[in-house]
Amino acid sequence: MKKKIIFATTNEGKMKEIRMILDHPDFELVSLKDAGIHVHVEETGKTFEENAILKAKAICEATGEMVLADDSGLEVDYINKEPGVYSARYMGEDTPYDVKNQSIIDRLKDAKGEERSARFVCVIAAAFPDGRVVTARGTIEGVIGYEEKGTHGFGYDPILYVPEYGMTTGEMEPEMKNQISHRGKALRQMRKELGL
Ligand code: IMP
Repeated sequence: MKKKIIFATTNEGKMKEIRMILDHPDFELVSLKDAGIHVHVEETGKTFEENAILKAKAICEATGEMVLADDSGLEVDYINKEPGVYSARYMGEDTPYDVKNQSIIDRLKDAKGEERSARFVCVIAAAFPDGRVVTARGTIEGVIGYEEKGTHGFGYDPILYVPEYGMTTGEMEPEMKNQISHRGKALRQMRKELGL
């Protein structure tokens, strides 16, 4: 029988990406929605690790199953690593991303070259019914662009320019972004940690 692993997200896009990377014959990966779980966990942590662990542990305790959870965001060095763990909440959850992105570009108007360094960070936490917790972290490094570019992806993708590839993550095809993204790296690292 396949062993069930719950991934603590309601985001189907993320779930698709996660299934592609964590595909394994012995495990069935299910989202909170698939598992019929409606537990809201407040992200009160100050780090991506704290938030990912908070979510994984809470759902693990509620279900008695092994749970994976992630927390991710954009860190911009020039503005003290903002928006960081507040990436989704920056300027308000419902503010459109073109407004959030323009705000970050404006706050960096005096920053030149390497001063514009930034990265996406993703931390995945695994919580086991015996109380054990494992985390894995992935990043993708870039610089904040001078204008939004690209229509792929979501969120802050149009402003993270990755010099190595000469484009923003918003200009990358999804398959390419998955190969090099913070989430892809963290998921593959977690796969190793779990011996899958
Ligand atoms: P959460 O991990 O679902 O809480 O999402 C954190 C927030 O970080 C998202 O809502 C986006 O604003 C931002 N973010 C995380 N990963 C990405 C990405 O791959 N591209 C663009 N924005 C991202």
